[in-house]
Amino acid sequence: MPVYSVSHVENVRVCVVMVGLPARGKSLIAQKIVRYLSWLSIKSKCFNVGNYRRELAKDVDASHEFFSPTNAVGTQYRRQAVEAAIEAMMHWFNDEHGVVGVLDATNSTRARRDEILQLCRTNSIEPMFLESWCDDENLILHNIIDVKTTSPDYQGQSADFATSDFLKRIKHYESTYEPLDRDHDRQLTFVKLVNVNSQIMLNRIESYLESRIVYYVMNLHIRPRTIYLSRHGESEYNLTGQIGGDANLSERGWKYAKKLPELVLKSLGEDAPHTNLTVWTSTLKRTQQTASFLPYKKKLSWKALDELDAGDCDGMTYEEIEQKFPEDFKARDDNKYEYRYRGGESYRDIVIRLEPIIMELERQENILIITHQAVLRCLYAYFMNIPQEESPWMSIPLHTLIKLEPRAYSTLVSRLKADIPAVSTYKEKGTSQLGEAEGAKSVKSRDIINESPCS
Ligand SMILES: *[C@@H]1O[C@H](CO)[C@@H](O)[C@H](O)[C@H]1NC(C)=O
Ligand SMILES: *[C@@H]1O[C@H](CO)[C@@H](O)[C@H](O)[C@H]1NC(C)=O
Ligand SMILES: *[C@@H]1O[C@H](CO)[C@@H](O)[C@H](O)[C@H]1NC(C)=O
Repeated sequence: MPVYSVSHVENVRVCVVMVGLPARGKSLIAQKIVRYLSWLSIKSKCFNVGNYRRELAKDVDASHEFFSPTNAVGTQYRRQAVEAAIEAMMHWFNDEHGVVGVLDATNSTRARRDEILQLCRTNSIEPMFLESWCDDENLILHNIIDVKTTSPDYQGQSADFATSDFLKRIKHYESTYEPLDRDHDRQLTFVKLVNVNSQIMLNRIESYLESRIVYYVMNLHIRPRTIYLSRHGESEYNLTGQIGGDANLSERGWKYAKKLPELVLKSLGEDAPHTNLTVWTSTLKRTQQTASFLPYKKKLSWKALDELDAGDCDGMTYEEIEQKFPEDFKARDDNKYEYRYRGGESYRDIVIRLEPIIMELERQENILIITHQAVLRCLYAYFMNIPQEESPWMSIPLHTLIKLEPRAYSTLVSRLKADIPAVSTYKEKGTSQLGEAEGAKSVKSRDIINESPCS
């Protein structure tokens, strides 16, 4: 049962068609939409025409001449790539019950848009065009450097060559590009972002699902920033293995709290003097105590960041739960994401209450979030695109600062350990014993995750 059963209620399927020149952040936006909706259990997938083109034209030189409208071979391949991407998307809609497909393509002529429009209509899919229009040179240059110097098309080439070749490629597209237009396209459902979100034009947004996508996109910015995540320091409950409650930090937990400012400074490096962090905690004592030595002025506590509510099991140890509620204990192991504690919450419930946090997080710049294991797993899953079967089992150790740096095609992760011992609070499947065995699915094994480049 999805969080938003929109697709069942409305029976709506949406095809988001990206429109705009290269280096306008289209792929980034496309991937974020897919990641966000998937996190909310709305089945979504991105179809990147560039990937199909690279696959089809493996042995063809992909420097800028390939993209010239007068290059017959290039035009042929690019045509095939669009067709392959659209065909794959239609299969996915029909055979795999897809709900939101994102077509990430570049050629945005009216003729091409009309073809997609017709195809969607015949298949009862709502087409929604999403244009990223941008004339801010700095923004474009930033995108070129960030995305294209790491693009598979320029592997093994110098950054200078990549940049100048890519600028020429953009020129080829400019010669045929037809932006969405308020008058000409007034029959279409579209969103037009001007210079990311300094101006946003909306036209004929019809379904609830579409309006959710719009709302999300309106909150995005693409300025570089860093997100730090940490659990609270070890608590007195963690020493006794109890869950829930509102315990104080243990002695070692306090040590971590004192060490945390230094850890953050070290991680910021030379940026430290001019970086202002916003600090978010939950409303529980252990996170606020952990934040208490941080020198930053902006501190906010959110109820939505409180730990998963264990209901009737609050204050018990896993062993006590296993004895008292054996069926529950097993049910939770069988499907930890869906299992809801008696009178408490499930992981899915956390995702629902975290949604406003995600929106606000997208708007923020540099931020440090001190929260709890289950909440942190859900936040981490959003940034790293981790599937629901896996996220509740991820190991996120105490006394460790996690740093996330969102980039165009991936999020970089690094971890700083405080070197202050703490009990392990990781519980593996099928046991009530705490502690981490070899090979546990830990954050460590996912140090740098490349979000599969969108296909
Ligand atoms: C874009 O698509 C249109 C219509 O399908 C086609 O006529 C045109 O040649 C294409 N242009 C480029 C630059 O690929
Ligand atoms: C650590 O202790 C806190 C209570 O202070 C609890 O909420 C949390 O679940 C504990 N961690 C684990 C996994 O035992
Ligand atoms: C937590 O610490 C405060 C202040 O040191 C103390 O007054 C309180 O009794 C402690 N609470 C528990 C449950 O130990």
